[in-house]
This record gives sequence, C-alpha cells and structure tokens, in this order.
Amino acid sequence: MSKLALVTGASSGIGRAFAQRLAADGHDLVIVGRRKERLDELAASLSDVDVRPMAVDLATDEGVDAVAEVCATEPLTMLVNNAGVAHYMPLAELPADKARELTHVKVVAPTMLTRAAVPGMQARGEGTIINVSGMIAFSGPAPHSQMPRRAVYAGSLAFLVAMSQTLHAELEGTGVRVQALCPGVVATEFHERQGLDLSAVPRMSSEDVVTASLRGLELGEVVCAPSVEDAGLLDAVFQADLAAFGAQSPQLATRYQG
Ligand SMILES: NC(=O)c1ccc[n+]([C@@H]2O[C@H](COP(=O)([O-])OP(=O)(O)OC[C@H]3O[C@@H](n4cnc5c(N)ncnc54)[C@H](OP(=O)(O)O)[C@@H]3O)[C@@H](O)[C@H]2O)c1
Repeated sequence: MSKLALVTGASSGIGRAFAQRLAADGHDLVIVGRRKERLDELAASLSDVDVRPMAVDLATDEGVDAVAEVCATEPLTMLVNNAGVAHYMPLAELPADKARELTHVKVVAPTMLTRAAVPGMQARGEGTIINVSGMIAFSGPAPHSQMPRRAVYAGSLAFLVAMSQTLHAELEGTGVRVQALCPGVVATEFHERQGLDLSAVPRMSSEDVVTASLRGLELGEVVCAPSVEDAGLLDAVFQADLAAFGAQSPQLATRYQG
C-alpha cells in the first residue's frame, strides 16, 4: 500500500533528514518550506518516490490554510510538524513581527495541520503525527545564567509537548499515533540563521534525531528525547506533573490563607 508523508521545514536540517529517510522507506512526500529552490533540489534527488514541493510561508494564515487543505484531503500516513524558527531574545525586546512569526510557525501551524489531518487518519484507522519540539520545553525552571533568553521559543516547545501528550490520550484506540520529538542541540542551520555560532558545542546529527524518532514510535514513546540516555528521567517528570495535577482541591491552599 502506498504511504504518503507531509514534512514541514523540509528544505534543511531535521526536516530534510526526515524527508530523505521516509523516501528511502517508500513514502511519497509533500515537502513544505519557503525556499523553493531547496525543495526542488531535494525533490529531484528523491527519484524513487513521488515528491511534491510546496513553497509556502507557515507564518501566514494563507500558507497554513494551503497546507491544511492538503492534510485534510490527501490520505496522509504521516505528518511531521517540523518547521521552526527560534528568535532567542528577551521577551520585552522581541519585535512583534518575530513574536508573531515564531508562534505562528511553532504553535498555530502544527495545531491547524494536525487538526486537518487527524479526522482522515481516524477514519482510515492509522496515521502518525510527529511534532518537533525540543528539550528546551523542559528548561522553564532553569536560571538565567544557564540558558539564553528564550521565553517564547520555550513556551512554544512546551505547548507542543502538552498538545501531543493530550492528543495521544484523545486518540487512544484509533490507530493514530502522536509523538513530541525533543532533540537537544542538533547540527543544522537553525542557530546560524539567527546569528548564533554553536559549532563548538557538541551537537547531534539530524539523521540520528530521525532514527530516534522512528525507533521511539516503535517503542510506543509519546515524548521522544534522542539525547537523553535515561528515559526514566522523563517518566519521572510526567509522573510529577500528574501528581501535582491530581493534588488539586477546591479549598484555598493553606499557605495562601490569612
Ligand atoms: N537545531 C537544533 O538544535 C534544534 C533543537 C531542538 C529542536 N529543534 C527544532 O527542530 C526543527 C527543525 O529545525 P532545524 O534544526 O532542522 O533547523 P533549520 O535547518 O533551520 O530548519 C528549519 C526549517 O523550518 C523551515 N521554516 C522556518 N520558517 C518557516 C516558515 N515561515 N514557513 C515554512 N517553513 C519554515 C525552514 O525552511 P525555509 O527557511 O525554507 O522556509 C527550514 O526548512 C525546528 O522546529 C526547531 O524548533 C531544533
């Protein structure tokens, strides 16, 4: 049976590696990004499968709607919400257009594309949604000295983790799988494009990130962290989340009284 995957942000880095791996595994592809020449070049290099480039800006409603239309009408077996920008900056200094672009690409686009793809996947009884988040999703409690200022980026990644976990539970028993993929630092153009040189930092390859994601699906992981050796650390985070969530009561907590 033919397999069709849609990968956003396929013009470089992790998305490009996903497209190459999925093509090698026999998937026809829809590849999305703004740099048309990069998409065309990738399509030309993947001659064994059908590849449709879509040069689209996911920071715009029109761009998201055009890709959502494909997600809703084509029999996707896999959707990889990978496109992203970081715009590390103190929130108060983050220009409005960059804040809007970041949240549109990392929050609005994955939401709308997933929303469009899921009903068809449910009807067909199979499908996979991969939302590319990152370990920075878990960095909220880190002090300023440890991390660059990145409140909106961190928030967008945390959104993808929570949405993926909740959607996984919503879709239990439907045959549709959901994964939040949380790489650490990866050797791509991501940081250079915002003027950061991380070449001295040890970085994982995009290919290893994709290997972990696909193996993580086989392992049934909802949150896949390619660079974390002890998966129990993540399980402990989620158990602690659930313990705090389950500890709520309508009574005002004692420390807030008087
Ligand atoms: N690199 C890391 O260390 C790292 C770590 C954790 C998570 N991540 C996540 O991994 C994902 C992929 O990043 P990467 O590291 O592979 O970086 P990358 O090489 O810069 O790739 C980013 C991709 O997103 C696409 N994109 C950006 N803005 C877009 C827009 N407005 N519309 C459509 N496509 C857009 C880019 O394509 P065009 O420029 O052609 O539009 C490009 O294909 C990101 O979502 C990022 O948050 C990266």
